Amino acid sequence: MNKLEIRDLEVCHGLLKAVRGINLNVQAGEVLAIVGANGAGKSTLMRAIAGSHRASQGSITFMGQTLGDLPAHKRVGLGLCLVPEGRRLFPKLTVQENLTVGAQIGRIGYWTVEKIFEVFDNLVKRRHANADTLSGGEQQATAIGRALVANPELVLLDEVSLGLSPAIVDRVYSILPQLRETETTVVLVEQDLGRVMKVSDRIICMLEGRIVLEGATKDLTRDQIIEAYFGLKPNAVEGAET
Ligand SMILES: Nc1ncnc2c1ncn2[C@@H]1O[C@H](COP(=O)(O)OP(=O)(O)O)[C@@H](O)[C@H]1O
Ligand SMILES: [Mg+2]
Repeated sequence: MNKLEIRDLEVCHGLLKAVRGINLNVQAGEVLAIVGANGAGKSTLMRAIAGSHRASQGSITFMGQTLGDLPAHKRVGLGLCLVPEGRRLFPKLTVQENLTVGAQIGRIGYWTVEKIFEVFDNLVKRRHANADTLSGGEQQATAIGRALVANPELVLLDEVSLGLSPAIVDRVYSILPQLRETETTVVLVEQDLGRVMKVSDRIICMLEGRIVLEGATKDLTRDQIIEAYFGLKPNAVEGAET
């Protein structure tokens, strides 16, 4: 079953078409990784799915419902949550208050504010600290926590490891098994190809707003992904001549 269906999606920043005709299905329970160079349109796609950036064309259907212009907070209510690039916490709210906001607009389920403090126990001593006083790792844990307490059916993780030390990144990714257990569908953008190949079921590679490679992780090689990432087509000349 498809949790998410994207058809002919176009998303612009002013005159710039950042997403150019994307078609994509995301299956229930899978971990889909999106890779691609800076500026490929990954974040714009994620934001369009979450409803924080309006699509100019095409459709997004989530659990059978076409989302149209449905605002982001209503999408959260349906079970579609984004952990945005750069975290975007409420800086003057405490960790606990940031989490409570997520819980209030989301659904009731496995994840509660207390469960987040159990999973990210580094946040416990920071519970009443304002978000703008947190370390990068603490901020990221809070941002992920804020999305999870809404009990999403599908969570979008946009470069959650950006700027964090390897040990902290491990900690952030340590929630993936729990997401699998709770049958949460995951779409993640990640620059670390090694990690992508380790955690994902399927990979898509974007280049200049389009999908240029798509496949099950087990069927793709690192070289294939890197070629797609940089827009290199080793067989293009051969292909053109036949
Ligand atoms: N807020 C914005 N205003 C104008 N252009 C933007 C904005 N955000 C992104 N872009 C442009 O849209 C394209 C895609 O950006 P983005 O979706 O952030 O790519 P990625 O996440 O893959 O690095 C880039 O050319 C980028 O410069
Ligand atoms: Mg981005």
